[in-house]
Formats: sequence, C-alpha cells, structure tokens
Amino acid sequence: MQTKIAPSILSADFSAMGEAVKKLEKCGADLIHCDVMDGTFVEPITFGGQMIKNIRPLTKLPLDAHLMIAHPKTQIKFFAEAGADIITVHYKACAEISETYLKETLELIKSYGVKCGAVVNPDVPVEKIYDVFPLCDMVLLMSVYPGYGGQKFIPEVLEKVKKARAYAIKIGKADMDIEIDGGVTEENAAQIRAAGANVLVAGSTVFKAQNMTATIANLKK
Ligand code: DX5
Ligand code: ZN
Repeated sequence: MQTKIAPSILSADFSAMGEAVKKLEKCGADLIHCDVMDGTFVEPITFGGQMIKNIRPLTKLPLDAHLMIAHPKTQIKFFAEAGADIITVHYKACAEISETYLKETLELIKSYGVKCGAVVNPDVPVEKIYDVFPLCDMVLLMSVYPGYGGQKFIPEVLEKVKKARAYAIKIGKADMDIEIDGGVTEENAAQIRAAGANVLVAGSTVFKAQNMTATIANLKK
C-alpha cells in the first residue's frame, strides 16, 4: 500500500496558516491533518470549523479533521459543511455518552458524504472499535496521548497496528486506511509502515525540517 503523509497543522504558525498549508502541498504532503481540540476532551483549545472553511480553498489536498472533542455528534455539521474530507472521532469521547454514540456519529458523518474514522488512545485496545470497522474509511491509532504535539512515540501501539490491519483484511477491507498519530519521526516511520499503517501524521517532524520536501519523502520511503 502506498504511504500517505498527513502533516499536522498544530505545529504551524497559526498567524500564517494559509502559507503553511500551501507549502505543505508544494512539499509533497498527501493530506492536511487538522487537530481540533476543545479544552474539555483535551486541555488545549485549537480551532473549529472556521479554520477548515478558510483553508479549504487554498489546497486540493484532502482535509483530515481529527476531532479531540467531547460530544462530537453536535459538531459534525459544522466540519462537514466547512469542507472536511474525512472526520475522525474518539472512541473514548463517544463511549462516555452511550454504547451506540460512536456508531451514530460515524453514520452522521457519512450522511454528509464525508469519510469517517474512529480513534483510539494508546491505552484502549483496538478490539473496542472492531464493531465499527465496517463503517470506517480510516482507523486512527494514537501513538501519544492526545493534546500536544512533540511527544515521544509509544512503541506498544505497533502491535495494535498489526492487529488492526489483520482484522481489516479479515473483514474484506484490506486497503482500509490505518493512520498513526503522534511522535512519528524519520527514524521510526519504517517500522510503523511495516506494522501495517499507511497514513502517517507528523507535526513537529515536518515543521522543524530543514528541508520539508526531503523529510516528507523520507517518511514515505
Ligand atoms: C496530538 C495530535 C497530533 C500531534 C502530532 O494530540 O493529535 O496530531 O500534534 O504531532 P507530533 O507529530 O509532533 O507528535
Ligand atoms: Zn491528530
């Protein structure tokens, strides 16, 4: 499977976001990863649908909205209408509400014609979201605890990546996107890909790069 790189704009200079997005596209990014934080599900607050709406006309790349928010169902409309191409929601945020909330939220995302995905934190077994694999276009396995960029990769997540890819194959979705988010570097990218992940989020690695084009290319090969 071809590897896709999804730089996280969390590491960009927020006062020059438009330029950052254009540069990412020019340097070979495959998706733009947009980290949405609400100050409740995670401590920081980043941005909402308005950011998606404003960067939408600046790039042809798919916008990957990673919602680290409580009560995600209430916000889907705004992100879908703003132009997100894929919206991912956290298992934990949904499980706190009800057993069916995750499935309902994924179905709501799909009803807007937007791709959907479920996210699990490092301490949540991937089996918890097996029941929604058939609905998901992508599964996101966090390799850090959400909230901050620049954290260290948690290597135990690699076993979960293998399980997720094996389960996707088992249910006939061999080419489902499996995304890894947090602490991805040029040093660990090869083992992450070998475990079965094909979408790599990278914030600090890409934004701190001396040569962004070369760094994005290295993360892929
Ligand atoms: C963490 C975010 C990630 C993170 C990636 O809460 O979801 O997207 O910022 O940043 P790096 O690549 O710096 O770990
Ligand atoms: Zn993210």
